[in-house]
Amino acid sequence: MMFNRKFPNSRLRRLRTSNNLIDLVSETTLTKHDLIQPFFIKEGLKGSEAIDSMPKISRHGLDIISSKVEQAITAGISSIAVFPVIDSNKKDQEGSEALNPNNLICSAISSLKKQFPEIIIIADVALDPYTNHGHDGVLKGNKIDNDETLKLLGEQATFLADAGADIIAPSDMMDGRIGYIRSKLDEFNHKDTIILSYAAKYHSSFYGPFRDAVGSKNQLQGASKSSYQMNIANSDEALHEVALDIEEGADIVMVKPGMPYLDIISKIKNTFKMPTFAYQVSGEYSMLQNAIDQGWLEKEVMLESLLCLKRAGADAILSYSAVELLKEFDL
Ligand code: PBG
Repeated sequence: MMFNRKFPNSRLRRLRTSNNLIDLVSETTLTKHDLIQPFFIKEGLKGSEAIDSMPKISRHGLDIISSKVEQAITAGISSIAVFPVIDSNKKDQEGSEALNPNNLICSAISSLKKQFPEIIIIADVALDPYTNHGHDGVLKGNKIDNDETLKLLGEQATFLADAGADIIAPSDMMDGRIGYIRSKLDEFNHKDTIILSYAAKYHSSFYGPFRDAVGSKNQLQGASKSSYQMNIANSDEALHEVALDIEEGADIVMVKPGMPYLDIISKIKNTFKMPTFAYQVSGEYSMLQNAIDQGWLEKEVMLESLLCLKRAGADAILSYSAVELLKEFDL
């Protein structure tokens, strides 16, 4: 057992005497294959526009998204996640624009898939970019109606798969959505469409910049998602969530946010041995990127935070910094 090792026979610094040695015995690596780049696609926009709360990240118009995706592919990216920013006059109580098969995100996905057949496209399934109250579900009175929401999510998922999404990623935390979406996908001939479940998604305050980016913050007007997203104080509950989602047919499970939830990633990976992803969310990204831009932290902190997610057990990571990291570092 390693614990019988004694100094001076054992000197752990021996294996740290050169970078080659350090790399040789490294337990974890971060490569381009582990990184998923999210994109915000905005309706009616020409070119790109900056997102104030997300340094270096922009919303892109349909006219320019192909060239942005092409640049990502050139940098080494093989998977992207796409998020819609729709006209606010299309938002309503039920998020009905989500069920328009020719909506912004379906058009974007089908055109990207035609141009870049190899790229893996991950499409978020949730109503919050489409509702005028900013919630992820159907609002009945002052409650989010779980089962009514499922019907819409099932339909939304099949339209996204029809458009060419390879992976459907339900991010709303309604109960039973994975099973419901799986059955709808199967019914509409999408047996091989993968489900990446945001299985342990916490009621976190780290999503603020994302809500700016997709324009759901103004709609929410301070309303809380605590009736569906998980209590940040819990970890047993995360295992229950993941167990249910696997039983319902999730192919991949995800923990979100990332860095403050390393214990959760580790428990889930060790318990279920399933493909497990982590999402370095907008707030985490902006904190680090802002500090890098100010010169307060070295740019390596971004790499470190992602490598630590992998060490905790993540197999792949959504990160807004993915393309930039691949440009700057040899991963
Ligand atoms: C919406 C969704 C959110 C994120 C991904 N999908 C925000 C939320 O739940 O309010 C957050 C991602 C991020 O902060 O980067 N269902």
